[in-house]
Amino acid sequence: MLRVKPPAKYIWLDGKLLNWSDAKVHVMTHALHYGTSVFEGIRGYWTGENLLLFRLDDHIDRMFNSAKILGIKIPLQREEVRNAIVETLRANEFKEDVYVRPIAFVSSQTITLDIKSPDVSLAIIAVPFGKYLPPGGVRATIASWRRVHNTMLPVMAKIGGIYVNSVLARLEARSRGYDEALLMDAWGYVVEGSGENVFIARKNIIYTPPVYQSILEGITRDTVIKLAGDIGMQVAEKPITREEVYTADEIFLAGTAAEITPVIEVDGRPVGDGRPGPITTKLAELYAKVVRGRVEKYLKWVVPVY
Ligand SMILES: Cc1ncc(COP(=O)(O)O)c(C=O)c1O
Repeated sequence: MLRVKPPAKYIWLDGKLLNWSDAKVHVMTHALHYGTSVFEGIRGYWTGENLLLFRLDDHIDRMFNSAKILGIKIPLQREEVRNAIVETLRANEFKEDVYVRPIAFVSSQTITLDIKSPDVSLAIIAVPFGKYLPPGGVRATIASWRRVHNTMLPVMAKIGGIYVNSVLARLEARSRGYDEALLMDAWGYVVEGSGENVFIARKNIIYTPPVYQSILEGITRDTVIKLAGDIGMQVAEKPITREEVYTADEIFLAGTAAEITPVIEVDGRPVGDGRPGPITTKLAELYAKVVRGRVEKYLKWVVPVY
């Protein structure tokens, strides 16, 4: 085991705040073997005065939906999960931007595939977090791994095991010297980044793949669709071909971790003139204000921790 300074003081596990290094699970844990967990990624933004959680209730709702799809029961009510997240952040006394990772996992110690619903643990981890992707623009590649289809695994749910698909695609991209992977579905449509939804702009119209194309229904994706109207743009949901990606004027990735990050190159081809484009830049600037509670209209999306 690596002995490094823990990134935070406490982790919430099954009702208790434990010291970071004491939050452990058994090696026989079902979720460790079979990927039977559901999780979320939520950002908290430090404004200098308070820590603001962005779209907390939407993330909690999605986590409960993920659990419903997997067929496990989160051992707490929504409100209790919300309170536990706030409690964890307060205990850690964060005064910087953070990433919050609630995870519910099948904790039974059994070799069988059966899920025994009462054996579900819930952990809440929060760590200081900066930029996830290079903010000046991402060099992306289309991965050879295809996005798993929702007739095979329920990709609308954030289930641990499904992320092996993303891990493989990202590993491939990184090992080939790129910052991020774009995944096509089995039919050759570009549907997602490894941990982000994808948007392209062509001839002043923004496009993003529809939910039925086996994507995660991203909360940032929804935010982008709503903010686009504020900058005078509409977003059309439609399948996106590889050629449309290679000839897009702008491409950006949207996700809680990635926020809104421009893609400046795909497979060695510059996107537009190879610099972040005006639509992406406007949306990213507006998004940065919204998440920090600086836009009155969207104050409903931020939850203060302190
Ligand atoms: C595969 C995948 N797609 C899209 C997203 C973006 O979702 P959100 O904006 O809700 O973070 C994520 C991140 O959670 C993801 O892992």
